[in-house]
Amino acid sequence: MPSRPRVFASRDLPAAVRQRLERDYDARINDSDVFLSEDDLVAACQDAEALIPIPADPVSANVIDRLPPTFRAVGCFSVGTDHVDLAAARRRGIAVTHTPGVLTESTAEMAILLMLGAARRAHEGEKVLRSGTWQGVRPTELLGMELSGKRLGILGMGRIGEATARRARAFGMTIHYHNRRRSDAETELGAIFHETPDTLMGASDVLSIHAPATAETKHMVNAGRLAKLPEGAVVVNTARGDLVDDEALIDALKNGHVFAAGLDVYDGEPNVHPGYFGLENAFLMPHLGSATVETRTAMGMLCLDNLDAVFAGTEPPHRAA
Ligand code: DGY
Repeated sequence: MPSRPRVFASRDLPAAVRQRLERDYDARINDSDVFLSEDDLVAACQDAEALIPIPADPVSANVIDRLPPTFRAVGCFSVGTDHVDLAAARRRGIAVTHTPGVLTESTAEMAILLMLGAARRAHEGEKVLRSGTWQGVRPTELLGMELSGKRLGILGMGRIGEATARRARAFGMTIHYHNRRRSDAETELGAIFHETPDTLMGASDVLSIHAPATAETKHMVNAGRLAKLPEGAVVVNTARGDLVDDEALIDALKNGHVFAAGLDVYDGEPNVHPGYFGLENAFLMPHLGSATVETRTAMGMLCLDNLDAVFAGTEPPHRAA
């Protein structure tokens, strides 16, 4: 029987995925579940032929260039591949795979959670109640923004943007969007297309960010664009932190131009700009968009389907490089 390929998983994995990985591969898993630096990753991969990284792992050229000659694949446990230097992987002939499609619904649910939580001041309300100081209903206590009748601006209308828009329609929101190409779901969603992100801003009582992280989208939501939002808008980000200029958003949250933000992703994860922590109108989640048993299991299975194909010498279902 040929020896099983050696795989290093940079974090613990859902039970069913772990079972399959340990059955089919000679697996090593970072059970400590803590962040690994570039040097840690290189050291852990010295006797491996594949790595399963998560989005916080810096799979840079500096890492890829130091992987052993027998190394075959980076099987991302994510749809995003912005943490992997794809060009460096191509140069080395290392396959990079990812898991699109299976985290659409869970991430759209998170966008809705953040939208409601930020607009309805959920974190402040919970804090008051837990403090034991609540005096009963007061007509002016913690007034939020109603979503019904508002305009939702979707920046990046891919699968997750569309799934979010579908849910928002059920709240009575109208949909505006900007995307590089027109969405096929435009008619179904009654969505209004904007040629540029700038005009989208002016039509967004709630802005929900769903674009991929690329050199072009870095800090796409900056001070100039935030200023174009209507006074008192809500900003939601479930995509990637580096699409937003944190300093600009923090200023806008402080001066009230942005009423509240709901964030699940941060520039430079696992670091989070400390300016957010002191702001009551920032509703913050630790990158839990895809964190359901169903989705994380499906992601893991897809990740292993990809690796199985690489080691069988066939084309993986989802190859990024
Ligand atoms: C992804 O798959 O890119 C998500 O951000 C992980 O939750």
